[in-house]
Amino acid sequence: MTRDTLYAINNTNLIVALDVDTFDRARYFVDKLYPSVGIFKVGFQLFTAAGPRVIEYIRNKGAEVFLDLKFYDIPNTVACAVRQSVRLDIRMITVHISGGKEMVSAAAQAARTEAKLLRRRRPLLIGVTVLTSRETSPADVLKLAREGMASGLDGVVCSAREVRLLRKTIKKKFIIVTPGIRPKTSPHDDQKRTATAEEALNAGSDYLVVGRPILEAGDPLKAVENIL
Ligand code: C5P
Repeated sequence: MTRDTLYAINNTNLIVALDVDTFDRARYFVDKLYPSVGIFKVGFQLFTAAGPRVIEYIRNKGAEVFLDLKFYDIPNTVACAVRQSVRLDIRMITVHISGGKEMVSAAAQAARTEAKLLRRRRPLLIGVTVLTSRETSPADVLKLAREGMASGLDGVVCSAREVRLLRKTIKKKFIIVTPGIRPKTSPHDDQKRTATAEEALNAGSDYLVVGRPILEAGDPLKAVENIL
C-alpha cells in the first residue's frame, strides 16, 4: 500500500479486535463481519479461552489474523513463541518494545528463520510502544519506536496522537497500527489517547484496531459499515 491509497478505510486495513470469551462468540462475529472485515485480532482473552482453533477458523474463512499476545519475556522464550506463531500462519504478531533490543531482535530473527524453514510467509513483527490506555509523551513513544525499528521490527502500535511525529521523524518505510479508535459518538472506555478512524488515517496510520465500538454495538455489521 502506498500513502496515497491509505486515506480510505476498507477490509484490508480495518482490524476488529475479537475481545470475546468463547470460540462461539468469536465465530459469531467472524461470520457476521467477514468479508466487510478482512483482519481479526486475537488477543489474550480469546487465545486463552479458545487457543489455536480460533485462528484456524478465521484462516479457513479467508480472513487474516493479527495475533496480539504482546510478547514480553527473556529473548529465548519470546523467540520460541514467535516460531509457534509462524506455524499458525499469522499475518501480524506483537512484542513489547520495552522488552529490550535483544528480545526484539530475537523475535525478528526467529520469525525469519522459522518462515524460511517451513517455507511459510513471515508474520509482520509489530512492536507495542506505550499502551493507549496510558498517558505518555509523544517523545517517549518516538524513542521506543526508533529503538524497535533498529532491532528489526516491521512496524509499531501507537495512538493516533503520535502518528504524525513518527511519520515525520522516522524516514524509513514502516507500518503503523493504531488502536483506541472511537467514532465521535462512542464512549472512550478505558482508552486515554483516542481518535476517529479518519483522524488516524489522515495522520498516517496503516491499520486501525477497533474493538468495543463494534462488539458492543446493537448491530455490529452496521457499526463496521459506519466506520467504513
Ligand atoms: O475495545 P477497543 O477498541 O478499545 O480495543 C482496542 C484493542 O486494541 C484491544 O484489544 C487492546 O488490547 C488493543 N491495544 C490497545 N493499545 C495498544 C495495543 C493494543 O488498545 N497499545
